[in-house]
Amino acid sequence: MNANDDLRPPGGSPTLLRQFADRATGALSYLLACADSRQAVMIDPVQGDLSLYLGVLDELGLCLAYAVDTHLHADHVTGAAALRAATGARIAVPRHCGAGGCDLLLADGDRLTAGTIALEVLATPGHTAHSLTLRWRDRLFTGDSLLIGSAGGTGEPGGDAGRLYDSVTRVLLPLPDETLLYPGHDHQGRRVGCIGEERRCNPLFAGVSRDEFISRRAAGDDAPPPDAAACIAANQRCGAPD
Ligand code: FE2
Repeated sequence: MNANDDLRPPGGSPTLLRQFADRATGALSYLLACADSRQAVMIDPVQGDLSLYLGVLDELGLCLAYAVDTHLHADHVTGAAALRAATGARIAVPRHCGAGGCDLLLADGDRLTAGTIALEVLATPGHTAHSLTLRWRDRLFTGDSLLIGSAGGTGEPGGDAGRLYDSVTRVLLPLPDETLLYPGHDHQGRRVGCIGEERRCNPLFAGVSRDEFISRRAAGDDAPPPDAAACIAANQRCGAPD
């Protein structure tokens, strides 16, 4: 667990935000909770960190309502099925992502609620065909669509450089400067960014045309992880045993 955030907006209900970094893969996962109702949402859980999540849920007295995956991950196995088995949470995944055994399919414009937590679903395809970003107030949980100073690869099945460029430049970067960016990965130990800085400084997008972005990706600088096929197959079962 790397960052803690107890948030109480003026006149609003207190909320909890926890960020987890998986040591094996560098994946970042998030726990959001409504402190009044104790209802919680887990974003992009990693199967190997189940005991850590359960310990935090127990410590904070939270009831997990949803385990959400922003896309079918290629570098780790989701902890969604294990969390459902342990807590009774419902599994939410992007519509048409190909995962079976889930409870809720998410599409652009949907809202996912748990107590006073309300997450807006933004379709941000490109890293995969079905990638989603979850927006909560002035915060974005981008999965691998937009990373701090980077973006997810497009070499996995369903990846499309042009769609990723469009998602980032049309959906995410136009948001207000102060919008906080919570990515699905960061291999340099950074844990949060902001849209204003990404718009000005992200070397993949700042001053880079769509055609230039596509041609750079076509040059082969984003090969998928070596165990991508096995991870994707497991994630098509929401991480449940074969
Ligand atoms: Fe990914």
